[in-house]
Amino acid sequence: MTAVSVSKDAAPTSEDLVVLSKVNKHFGALHVLQDIDLTIGRGEVVVVIGPSGSGKSTLCRTINRLETIDDGAISIDGQPLPQEGKDLARLRADVGMVFQSFNLFAHKTVLQNVMLGQVKVRKAEKGAAEEKARRLLDRVGVGSQADKYPAQLSGGQQQRVAIARALAMDPKVMLFDEPTSALDPEMINEVLEVMQQLAQEGMTMVVVTHEMGFARSAANRVVFMADGRIVEEATPDKFFSAPRSDRAKDFLSKILQH
Ligand SMILES: Nc1ncnc2c1ncn2[C@@H]1O[C@H](COP(=O)(O)OP(=O)(O)OP(=O)(O)O)[C@@H](O)[C@H]1O
Ligand SMILES: [Mg+2]
Repeated sequence: MTAVSVSKDAAPTSEDLVVLSKVNKHFGALHVLQDIDLTIGRGEVVVVIGPSGSGKSTLCRTINRLETIDDGAISIDGQPLPQEGKDLARLRADVGMVFQSFNLFAHKTVLQNVMLGQVKVRKAEKGAAEEKARRLLDRVGVGSQADKYPAQLSGGQQQRVAIARALAMDPKVMLFDEPTSALDPEMINEVLEVMQQLAQEGMTMVVVTHEMGFARSAANRVVFMADGRIVEEATPDKFFSAPRSDRAKDFLSKILQH
């Protein structure tokens, strides 16, 4: 043997999990994402806030390619986003998404909802998929609801099922687009607690939310968007105590009033 060799297979994985570079997108004449540069580290929790129409949802949707981009590049774990076919299905599994509306399959039970993607996309065996689904449903606190249909659950319970369904795919990153906005106030916390737990366990998360308490306690970084641009990024402490831009000051003064 000669000198110590460094195995190429063991090359260290990059700390950057999601990388957007110079991303632009238009809806007709509307320049909805403008030169977006954003890097999300492994295990990082990024909260995205900003006024209505600033492009927050569109940004999330580009990350799992529910929206195409006009130019720029997006990569996940070092791989550019696939265009179509099986690779795209795998990407959607790697990037879990939870929306404001719960988007569960109405004609399938809670358990079936959490099993489906595992069997169809991840090719898990039924028994293993069921075992994992039950474990995840327990973890988000709805294990006893497994055999019900989504409409028989409260909004907060349905949203926790949606989180379990995304987690069942072992995603690399979870995107949350206003996951508590459609919920009655008393159900908001039960969903935020599940998200808080996930954050503590090291899940990489991008969260669009108006819940500033969550942003303060769970976020590593706050990204403030306005008019399709990232106007400001800072730790929650810095952002909430000393926003730099007028747009952010104005936004915070409005939302922190109520
Ligand atoms: N499919 C679409 N076709 C045309 N315009 C769209 C489409 N989706 C979004 N837009 C427009 O793009 C802009 C950004 O929308 P987006 O939903 O990303 O904003 P947002 O920051 O998530 O707002 P909100 O806080 O209200 O959810 C808005 O002006 C919206 O009307
Ligand atoms: Mg939105």
